Amino acid sequence: MDYISKFEQLIKEQKARVKMMKEQGDFVKYDELDTIVIGVVGGDGIGPAITDQAHRVLKYLLQDEVKNNKVTFKMIDGLTIENRAKANKAIPDDVLKELKQCHVILKGPTTTPRKGDKWPNIESANVAMRKELDLFANVRPVKVPEKGIDWTFFRENTEGAYVLGSNGFNVDDDIAIDFKVITTGGAERIARAAFEFAKKNDKKRVTIVTKANVVKTTDGKFLEICKEIGKEYEGIEVDDWYIDIMTAKLVDEKRRTQFQVMILPNLYGDILTDEAAEFQGGVGTAGSSNIGKKYSMFEAIHGSAPRMVEEGRDIYADPSSIIRASGMLLNHIGYPEKAEKLYKALEICNTEKEYVITGRDTGATNEEFTNYLMKTIEKL
Ligand code: IPM
Ligand code: MG
Repeated sequence: MDYISKFEQLIKEQKARVKMMKEQGDFVKYDELDTIVIGVVGGDGIGPAITDQAHRVLKYLLQDEVKNNKVTFKMIDGLTIENRAKANKAIPDDVLKELKQCHVILKGPTTTPRKGDKWPNIESANVAMRKELDLFANVRPVKVPEKGIDWTFFRENTEGAYVLGSNGFNVDDDIAIDFKVITTGGAERIARAAFEFAKKNDKKRVTIVTKANVVKTTDGKFLEICKEIGKEYEGIEVDDWYIDIMTAKLVDEKRRTQFQVMILPNLYGDILTDEAAEFQGGVGTAGSSNIGKKYSMFEAIHGSAPRMVEEGRDIYADPSSIIRASGMLLNHIGYPEKAEKLYKALEICNTEKEYVITGRDTGATNEEFTNYLMKTIEKL
């Protein structure tokens, strides 16, 4: 395809996406559903091992709801890199069909092929799932109470620099092009999600992070829309920062405690949330929720660590991040007390340290750790 038709095709796809956004209904109401279907997707590498443990915790906390059919689990196996490579698709059709039969999904890490490795150049399964299920708000909390850090990042999850995934193109041998897209609807909905969260949680400041001084058209639009929506929320202070200085300010101990809720376009959100999670003990400790109107997905934010599996260490992989993601899932579907219990038990286990995960046979297996966690929950 010549590049002009390719470009036309891309614009067509984006227009279709905008149309879909406009026609979308409201957020699903879980309390009105006969049964809430929770999909459990192991993913690759250490994914199945840690996801199994998170699934055990969920089954334990939701035992009554499972008994009276308010909650049903659905196991979905096919989202492995081998299957994706075979289908040459980020999410094979049969897997996508199964995902769409769920209301919420708990997902282990999935391997993202990169240039030069043995896998075909398929798009990241994460990114594809966020797009296919329209999971527009990537919410990533980071808390370090002893340092006064209590941040919640609202990363736009379906457009920005990620919008076209692996669909950029080489015009010729000299010119490679990717695109960044910001839409009115896309910016509005992430801004609204962040401000609504701020309002409900009594947060007094929302910070918009862009590079609107340089990336003027798209970031400029994002910033303007977020500011406009902010005007509807009385009592919440809105400020904006450029991503470069914001990255620096997160290490400024005096300044960083003032930030509360951040709104960011996709790529900046990806980068800044890894930096932020590092203050909390690394990306392995953070969970992440991907919220859409119809579907939502909860995941560990670390990778699939294939080397741990090669070395037979997957039984020692830390399940904390995906267990934390299960807490976010519980909260999201209407069981905040169960989520609180889980967080509290995690905190106790991390201070008592009766079983400690080290990632090697010097520490506990993830099954031992999870048993310990469930016993701790029982005592609460
Ligand atoms: C994340 C990850 C993904 C992303 C990768 C695996 C594609 O880094 O969830 O932050 O870039 O969004
Ligand atoms: Mg990331």
